[in-house]
Formats: sequence, C-alpha cells, structure tokens
Amino acid sequence: MKPRLIRKDVYWLGAVDWNRRLFDCLIPLPDGTSYNAYLVRGSQGTALLDAVDPSMTSILMRQLAEVERIDYLVSQHAEQDHSGAIPAVLNRYPEAVLVCTPKAKPMLLEHLDVPPERIKTVEDGETISLGDKTLRFVHTPWVHWPETMCTHLPEDRILFSCDFFGSHLATTDLCAGGEPYVCEAAKRYYAEIMMPFRKIIQSNMKKVRACDFDLLAPSHGPIYDNPECILSAYDDWSSDRVSNLVVLPYISMHGSTEIMVDCLVAALAERGVKVQKFELSGADIGKLAMALVDAATIVIGTPTVHVGAHPSVYAATHLVNALRPKLKYAAIIGSYGWGTKAVEQLSGLIPNLKVEVLGTVLCKGLPREDTLAAIEALADTIRAKHALIEGTPS
Ligand code: FEO
Repeated sequence: MKPRLIRKDVYWLGAVDWNRRLFDCLIPLPDGTSYNAYLVRGSQGTALLDAVDPSMTSILMRQLAEVERIDYLVSQHAEQDHSGAIPAVLNRYPEAVLVCTPKAKPMLLEHLDVPPERIKTVEDGETISLGDKTLRFVHTPWVHWPETMCTHLPEDRILFSCDFFGSHLATTDLCAGGEPYVCEAAKRYYAEIMMPFRKIIQSNMKKVRACDFDLLAPSHGPIYDNPECILSAYDDWSSDRVSNLVVLPYISMHGSTEIMVDCLVAALAERGVKVQKFELSGADIGKLAMALVDAATIVIGTPTVHVGAHPSVYAATHLVNALRPKLKYAAIIGSYGWGTKAVEQLSGLIPNLKVEVLGTVLCKGLPREDTLAAIEALADTIRAKHALIEGTPS
C-alpha cells in the first residue's frame, strides 16, 4: 500500500499483515494485524514515527523511496513489531536521530543493532520542533512495555499512541469511523495485551485526555477519527466495574465434569446470571480473555490427571493469573477418579487474582444428587454475590 495522507503533510505508512495468525506464539490473530508508521513533514524537518515488523521492512522502505531526508526516527516502543525495521531506516538515512524514552534506549540497544551515538532520549513533556509542526512526547509506561510513550502533534491535533488503543486488525480502512468491528477487535487486543496493566492504564488515560486531539493514531489497526469512542471504552474496561457474568473455562475427559458444568450453567441462567463457557481443548483464548475484561466471577472446571488439574486447565489458569482481570469471585468444580490435589494446585496458580473463593465442588466419578445439589448451592452463592453488582436484575 502507498503512503496515505491523514492530515496536511502527515502520512500513514506501514504494512497490513493479512496472514499473521499468532502473536508472541501465544495470541491468536483471527483478523491479522497491521504495523502502522507515520511520516510527519514539518517546514524545517521530517520525522518518522515507529517502524514496522522486521518481516515487513521492504514494504516500509519502498514507501520511503521518495522521502529524501528523515531528521528524526521516533521509537515509541522497543518491541520488534514496531522497531524491527529501525536499523534499515537508520542505514538509509545517516542523518536521522533515533528518539526514544530513557528506558527505551538500553532496550533498543539490547534488541537491535543500533549505534548508541544515534540515540537521543526525551523526557516526559519534552518537544522537538519540525518548524511549523511540533512533536511533544508523553511518557505512557506499560502500554505495553515499561518504556512506551505517545507522541502529540498539537498543530494537527493528532495523538500517536503505538500499542495503546491498538487493534489487531488487517483492513483497507484507514480510519475506524463508527465501525463496531473495530471496537470488538480493540477489546480483544485490550484483553490480551493491556489488561495486566489496568491500574497504570487508568493513570495513563489521564495524561492522554489532557492532550488536545481529534485523531488517535495507534500503530496497530485503523486510526480513530472519533477518538471518544475508544477512550470511553478504555475508561470502562480499565475501571473497577464488573458485570453480572461468570466465565467458565473447563475440560472434561469422560463427561463427568461436563455434567457438573452444564448443571451450573443452567442453574446460573435460571437465577439471571450470564455465563460464558469455554471448553479449553478448542477454545479461542482471545475470546476467553475478552470475557474476563469485566466478568465478576470465574469458575474453573477440571478433571484430575495424575493427581493434578488437567494440563490444559493448568495452562489456562496460569494465563488468567497473568492477565490480572478484575474478577471478584472464584470457584473450582470437577470430577476425579480416586484422589486429587487439583484444588490446591490451581489455587496456588492465581496469586494475582484478588478474589474471594466461593467454594469448590468436587466429586469422585459420576456426579450424583448430592453433587448436583452442591452445584445448585454454588449457583445460589454466586447469585447472592452478583446481586451486589450494579445492573444485576433483582
Ligand atoms: Fe505492538 Fe508491544 O508491540
């Protein structure tokens, strides 16, 4: 794709990666992604904001073919999907200064082949003048690594945000407009990448909202030409508000745990509690992460394998702990053959979750009447806890 004009003398560059299906060998990308870079031409200088994934370097270099000079290459984030092409850009433009936060400098030197003398670090609030345009740097740590920053272009009322507010979405749409599919993709992205830093995001949101802009240009996915839509979504997702929702990841090897899970789903539904059930041998973990964005409760369903939880449940529980969702309540259910330490094992995997444990229901072999009664009682407990949540039907 050729450079696309977004404001006078400001261009989108970058690569749309339609075929990528996995990020970090972990995160599913059902809709691909993009690596956006931006060219800002001032009356006295030109800046390139971010580069692209190393696999897409040739695309960026072709887009720069007619750009004779770059004075500043701004690295807003050192992760390779935005920095991988930096060495190629620096080689092509020997006058270019690589601009980054002080925390980013050692990271760029560790991850890339970059001469240290080419790097200029900028403090929070510092500016670089390009003549009739100004780059103002806003440090926004932990979106997504500790060194990340945004760049404000006040004359054109644009905020460039790199990973912050991004979406893994391959599309020919330059701008999001009011498209619901963009918000859906942004929520998936928030869940998978931003959610662990929810508290820091709340403080970064204040810094972002203090900037005057009407275009929000991330380095993944479309540009927001109605930024309030994604800003209010982030306010909501990162808030302490939870919804009347139970997330239920589980595995069942021989059907007994599934009977318990189905009993609980039905009992909760009868009580007006919404449930999202994820059978982990085939679940999209991105959807599981999305459900965790505002769920009040997690119930983990596991059979026992060699005394412990099923390995797929173990891995999913570890992931939930790493994502640090704002869950308030948790429970574990499942069936075992002759002995189990699954509850002790899973409980030890979730130190990051500040949850009240509502109980466990375990049974040996097939669930009988007493087990199903215990499941109904667990549903009563969950319903009573959720009754305290705003918006739950009484
Ligand atoms: Fe898009 Fe944290 O890299």
